[in-house]
Amino acid sequence: MGRCWFSGVLIGLGCVWWVVVGVVEGYPAEDLVVRLPGQPNVGFKQYAGYVDVDVKAGRSLFYYFVEADKEPDKKPLALWLNGGPGCSSIGGGAFTELGPFYPTGDGRGLRRNSMSWNRASNLLFVESPAGVGWSYSNTSSDYNSGDASTARDMHTFLLKWYEKFPAFRSRELFLTGESYAGHYIPQLAIAILDHNEHSTGFKFNLKGVAIGNPLLRLDRDIPATYEYFWSHGMISDEIGLTIMNECDFDDYVFQNPHNVTVKCNTAISQANQIVGEYINNYDVILDVCYPSIVQQELRLRKMATKISLGVDVCMTSERYFYLNLPEVQKALHANRTNLPYSWSMCSHVLNYSDTDDNINILPLLTRIVHNRIPVWVFSGDQDSVVPLLGSRTLIRELAHDLKFQITVPYGVWFHKGQAGGWATEYGDLLTFATVRGAAHMVPYAQPSRALHLFSSFIRGRRLPNTTIPSIYD
Ligand SMILES: *[C@@H]1O[C@H](CO)[C@@H](O)[C@H](O)[C@H]1NC(C)=O
Ligand SMILES: *[C@@H]1O[C@H](CO)[C@@H](O)[C@H](O)[C@H]1NC(C)=O
Ligand SMILES: *[C@@H]1O[C@H](CO)[C@@H](O)[C@H](O)[C@H]1NC(C)=O
Ligand SMILES: *[C@@H]1O[C@H](CO)[C@@H](O)[C@H](O)[C@H]1NC(C)=O
Ligand SMILES: *[C@@H]1O[C@H](CO)[C@@H](O)[C@H](O)[C@H]1NC(C)=O
Repeated sequence: MGRCWFSGVLIGLGCVWWVVVGVVEGYPAEDLVVRLPGQPNVGFKQYAGYVDVDVKAGRSLFYYFVEADKEPDKKPLALWLNGGPGCSSIGGGAFTELGPFYPTGDGRGLRRNSMSWNRASNLLFVESPAGVGWSYSNTSSDYNSGDASTARDMHTFLLKWYEKFPAFRSRELFLTGESYAGHYIPQLAIAILDHNEHSTGFKFNLKGVAIGNPLLRLDRDIPATYEYFWSHGMISDEIGLTIMNECDFDDYVFQNPHNVTVKCNTAISQANQIVGEYINNYDVILDVCYPSIVQQELRLRKMATKISLGVDVCMTSERYFYLNLPEVQKALHANRTNLPYSWSMCSHVLNYSDTDDNINILPLLTRIVHNRIPVWVFSGDQDSVVPLLGSRTLIRELAHDLKFQITVPYGVWFHKGQAGGWATEYGDLLTFATVRGAAHMVPYAQPSRALHLFSSFIRGRRLPNTTIPSIYD
């Protein structure tokens, strides 16, 4: 639709049809994903394709858009970004967490995720920055990127994406993501607020920001990992105490040797070694999938599935297999330039600034809530990588600096008659909530609780603090 619509002179029969379809739906017909290989029948539409963010450099971001399951015209738009930096929102969010499909055990098809977030919202997933997944640049120096360039490109992306999907320009917009998206999402929100302050024309209808197990400030988030190891019996008391007593994390930096003492660094290395490889740090109670076995089974067309606590812990390998099938890439309009490397969950071509990890995100959250945009920080409580211990403290300290009162005291929130987690709210705007039994990738291990949390967030509702029936009924 794009080319015909904007040039306006190419009046062929095909063009007229594109324009009509474009006008009627406000969706780009050429990006329609007719059907993904091995996909179950569904009633909603999917779109995927490229948005060029810098035509001169040849830099282009890949997106995957899923319509809401029912009444998409009445539902908001939620953007989801995975972190890394350098990891794929399509492989992560869309196909193993909150999207409508998960890969099947043989890596050759898809099954429905009945708890997909598209039951509550239209969903937009973007490979960001260029160099991640199917997003690319024809100028290789573009792969030297960082937080600032990533936010700039995403701002441009959204403006151009709205040209493809004009029906969404004024729709309520929610920004969500996890992990290093604790940097991406607040920085994008600031770019959007700046845009809205300076623009005399189009303004974004930003309504909320939600980030899961987000990296916010290293000097709290890093010690939290070791406190988590210690409190879960994953390291010895001796090493735990050494780290807690010897390490001054105040000036901790991401780069080696982290600006801490030799004694502290030694204890940290020992801790990492004791934790070992037979644990998934992103969900410490799940069993692990053996990569060597699973690769072989997928090649032999066997089911690779390994269920641990109701979760297929081999899903990441099935996803890798599925997204590298040429027919899948074709159906998604992905990899249009035949990239000289295979799809991977986290980029091998990106040279992302390793000093940007040190950026303190809390001042950005301050500015967002000062604009009366609700901010939710949620936390899967089985995660040791960015554990709740750090996020909970940072949000409390932030509320204190903002002089926010407690508007919901810390307590259980309920889902299906059981504890979905614990939550608190400050100043009617700032929410911290845990999700019980959830991984770093919250919807992956707890899809139902995660959907409940997301639905509450976009509807501007609090998480329920009571359950019916009560335990005494
Ligand atoms: C990058 O280069 C390829 C091959 O020349 C071209 O097909 C593609 O359109 C270019 N991408 C962008 C965003 O300009
Ligand atoms: C390293 O730590 C010292 C004090 O502990 C501090 O003065 C210095 O600024 C820190 N360096 C960096 C690079 O943060
Ligand atoms: C892109 O396609 C080529 C084949 O044309 C394939 O070898 C490569 O693995 C694909 N890359 C990605 C990132 O999907
Ligand atoms: C990676 O980026 C840094 C700057 O952030 C630069 O100094 C370095 O040369 C880059 N490395 C490569 C391989 O381009
Ligand atoms: C639950 O929340 C409501 C409204 O926010 C409040 O009035 C009530 O006291 C809370 N109940 C409990 C058990 O905390």
